[in-house]
Amino acid sequence: MNILILGSGGREHAIAWKLKQSPKTSNLYIAPGNAGTIDVGTNLNIGVSDFNAIADCVKKHHIRMIVVGPEAPLVEGIVDFFRSKNEFSELKIIGPAKYGAQLEGSKEFAKDFMIRNQVPTARFKSFTASTLTEGYSFLESLNSPYVLKADGLAGGKGVLILNDLDEAKSELKSMLVDAKFGAASSNVVIEEYLDGIEMSVFVLTDGVNYQILPEAKDYKRIGEGDTGLNTGGMGAVSPVPFMNDELSERIKNKVVEPSVNGLKKEKIDYKGFLFIGLMIVDNQPFVIEYNVRMGDPETEVVMPRIKSDLVDHLNACADGKLNESPIEFEENAATTVMLVAEGYPEAYEKGKEMTGFDHLVDCLAFHAGTKETSGKILTNGGRILAISALGENFKDALAKSYRNADRILYQGKYYRKDIGFDLMKY
Ligand code: AMP
Ligand code: GLY
Repeated sequence: MNILILGSGGREHAIAWKLKQSPKTSNLYIAPGNAGTIDVGTNLNIGVSDFNAIADCVKKHHIRMIVVGPEAPLVEGIVDFFRSKNEFSELKIIGPAKYGAQLEGSKEFAKDFMIRNQVPTARFKSFTASTLTEGYSFLESLNSPYVLKADGLAGGKGVLILNDLDEAKSELKSMLVDAKFGAASSNVVIEEYLDGIEMSVFVLTDGVNYQILPEAKDYKRIGEGDTGLNTGGMGAVSPVPFMNDELSERIKNKVVEPSVNGLKKEKIDYKGFLFIGLMIVDNQPFVIEYNVRMGDPETEVVMPRIKSDLVDHLNACADGKLNESPIEFEENAATTVMLVAEGYPEAYEKGKEMTGFDHLVDCLAFHAGTKETSGKILTNGGRILAISALGENFKDALAKSYRNADRILYQGKYYRKDIGFDLMKY
């Protein structure tokens, strides 16, 4: 079958790399793709939110399945767009319809869904400008640190964690009254701070059945020792070495099953990936967030650990038969280290020539912000290249990721040298 992947990051390169290995894949298209996806498919110069142009290319290239990489087109209703047109009744789309995409698009929607479905999560309340005073009182009832979350999509920047009560109050006002994050913060969720270790689980669900994918932990801060500004993610490890049978059962029984049962009970049209961000407190999982897509760079460690045919799983997902499609994992560990541009996540330059690809050994270089021009590979974003590797354990894999990260050269290269630093004790 011909498959179209929407997106241009390391996540989409990793998904393309995995789908390409299936004998069921005929032609693979990536829109818009990057310099890496050219090696596994054909890039199409179309934006992920240009639904009409995507529809034209589905017809032109006889595409049977679309895999939606990022959240924006899902939140904007790409699934509903195609479902509303008879001529696309046979098209399979991996991703939820607009209503279900609110699990990522609205923090309040997600929290209310968790409460309705008994999914463990931090205690919270939501506020608007007209309930600012109640927001102040709620903050006073909590202990420091204070967690403020803009309700809508804010490019990963909408969560503030503050130690000081007065500062928390003033930030709450700035979000609600001064539109600190634009319309995304016209509604703010304030929640209890959870002190634990973070990890993520990934579920493929058809809205009734589900399969759990390999779990992962990512590193969001730009600086070593988890310091500095938040980024999209600077590296990832899978599996997480602190996983144990008890925790894994709790995640399945207390988080995954109630979440999928909630989709089913509430008749939410959801055929796609569900990314569940967890905080583990005393070996108990709490949900911090849902995302309605795979993570980036988590996908760059999850895909290499899936042994079975992803096209089969995605077909089963679209057909509502995921119960018949168990996912097999590789036993070994995978890591990824993200090479970024100097200055990222603030202002950075693009267009730097990259070299060293010929010297890479025993790794997978998933491209993120890269583009090819006249046979040269140039940087084209903040996050540039995810160097993934497999090993017997995460330390072996990390050593390979780092050895190869050294071999790629471009002006202003930066990467964290301490991915996995907090896991060494396990
Ligand atoms: P989110 O965008 O909801 O994933 O939040 C961004 C980051 O804020 C998370 O990855 C956590 O590190 C942190 N965070 C969010 N909610 C909480 C919470 N209730 N307690 C502690 N940390 C949190
Ligand atoms: N790496 C976190 C995310 O994809 O949201």
